[in-house]
Amino acid sequence: MASPILFFGLLALFFLAASASDPSPLQDFCVADTNSPVLLNGLACKDPKTVEANDFSSSGLHIAGNTSNPEGLSVASAQIPGLNTLGISLLRFDYAPGGINAPHIHPRATEILTVLEGSLEVGFVTSTPPNRLITKVLQKGDVFVFPIGLIHYQRNVGKTSAAAIAAASSQNPGFIPIANSVFGSKPDIPSDVLAKAFQVDKNVVNHIRSKF
Ligand SMILES: *[C@@H]1O[C@H](CO)[C@@H](O)[C@H](O)[C@H]1NC(C)=O
Repeated sequence: MASPILFFGLLALFFLAASASDPSPLQDFCVADTNSPVLLNGLACKDPKTVEANDFSSSGLHIAGNTSNPEGLSVASAQIPGLNTLGISLLRFDYAPGGINAPHIHPRATEILTVLEGSLEVGFVTSTPPNRLITKVLQKGDVFVFPIGLIHYQRNVGKTSAAAIAAASSQNPGFIPIANSVFGSKPDIPSDVLAKAFQVDKNVVNHIRSKF
């Protein structure tokens, strides 16, 4: 006889699997009608009779972005209304030498990244202690996967600028920047909570907070 633990374990796995991607479409496509006032999970569909090729297309991802900012990072997303409900999206990243895509989480998407130019150190951290860091240095043409929901980052470790293209398994992966979310929330997470969490003095917490 199967144990209750096994049963609930399998049940939990089922729900994990069921929530790990966007809902399956019930139609060929649902090109986003960005003018619709209707609020639902995703965007309302444009009349399929008015859909055209440009609804499924985007240009300009060959153009390097401006990385003159504190992180040394530029992010460009392929804006494609036809991706609505299809569970996928695409980004381009540019990194100045030493530039980073700071530790962050996509709560709704696994990400698969291909290096176009340069050398990128990438890494993600497993969810349960010992919170292992899985990391690697990638070169042009190398591909790396960041599993859904895990903290991950990239850093340009080359002497020249670097660029990458990444696809994500949601039309709306969500973005939780760790530092900004913890130290820059509005209103603040109480300082004594963060002081205990990070095992530092409240002044240290307030100093870090002042940067966000
Ligand atoms: C890049 O961004 C910086 C900071 O916003 C700005 O000063 C600079 O003019 C931009 N460079 C280009 C080529 O657009």
